[in-house]
Amino acid sequence: MAISIGIVGAGTMGAGIAHIAALNKFTVSLYDINDEVIRRSVEKINFEMKRSVDKNKISDDDMKQALTRIKKRTNINDLDTCDIIFEAVLEDIKVKKDLFKKLDQIAHHTAILATNTSTLSVTSIAAATKKPERVVGMHFFNPVHEIQLVEIVKGERTSDETMKSAAAIAEQLGKKAVQTKDTPGYIVNRVSHPFYNEALKILGENATTLEEIDRIVKKSGGFKMGPFELMDLTGNDVSLSVAESIYEQMYHDPRFQPSRIQKQMVEAGMFGKKNKLGFYNYEEK
Ligand SMILES: NC(=O)c1ccc[n+]([C@@H]2O[C@H](COP(=O)([O-])OP(=O)(O)OC[C@H]3O[C@@H](n4cnc5c(N)ncnc54)[C@H](O)[C@@H]3O)[C@@H](O)[C@H]2O)c1
Repeated sequence: MAISIGIVGAGTMGAGIAHIAALNKFTVSLYDINDEVIRRSVEKINFEMKRSVDKNKISDDDMKQALTRIKKRTNINDLDTCDIIFEAVLEDIKVKKDLFKKLDQIAHHTAILATNTSTLSVTSIAAATKKPERVVGMHFFNPVHEIQLVEIVKGERTSDETMKSAAAIAEQLGKKAVQTKDTPGYIVNRVSHPFYNEALKILGENATTLEEIDRIVKKSGGFKMGPFELMDLTGNDVSLSVAESIYEQMYHDPRFQPSRIQKQMVEAGMFGKKNKLGFYNYEEK
């Protein structure tokens, strides 16, 4: 029988997970506290899939079939028969813990509860439930339908069986699963944090320009994008909140101190590509 997936939070990441799940023949129950978000999310999935049809990545029939597999849910209790429920609500430990407490009561007793948190403690989220062994981190990256990697995060009490099932589901979603322990920022955000922060420090010291840093990192380092281009792509707001969360969880270790430059960018509303103004000006391009 086909695995049924529930998704709570139909924003950027929830929509992305619904997209790949439906294309990979899972049935999807998509829920958000805001009904309008669910409607917009399905519209966005439709738009992205059409682009894939135009690029001959999927057929028109694949798209039509996939869209029929996505069920818009306006009542969270309708996720009670799902085999796995992905949580993709805002990055706030209290909101996530309250939600997991609720999901623990609603979900089938064998269901896996997976959080897509970027940095928060999976162990702490799992502690809000009576079955922490069934709670796991499944950290997808944006845009979900394009990025291969998923970090499978083992909370303190996550069972080996849950880890195995989560990795298998990630592979069935067409992803490359990498397992990691529950440490602030896991692997990718932990490694990218100093990549961004050191670039920001060099900029703060007026050692050179940001364009030059990006150019050298790409040309001599072989990176596809420079740190400033990447921060603009991720969103300076998202990147700063990741930095702040890691700093908090590392007991304010000065090595992880977030950058004032980035903080000011966010205060000035310079989020990056998404609003056309960040370290670079995308209006002119
Ligand atoms: N955006 C990224 O690049 C990215 C990448 C990896 C992981 N993440 C993580 O994924 C999660 C979601 O991020 P996003 O960018 O999709 O956020 P988003 O703001 O686009 O979407 C969050 C959605 O959650 C809904 N929501 C809030 N509280 C809810 C609740 N109690 N019940 C149901 N729905 C609720 C909101 O209405 C909103 O539609 C966060 O934990 C974030 O850290 C984000």
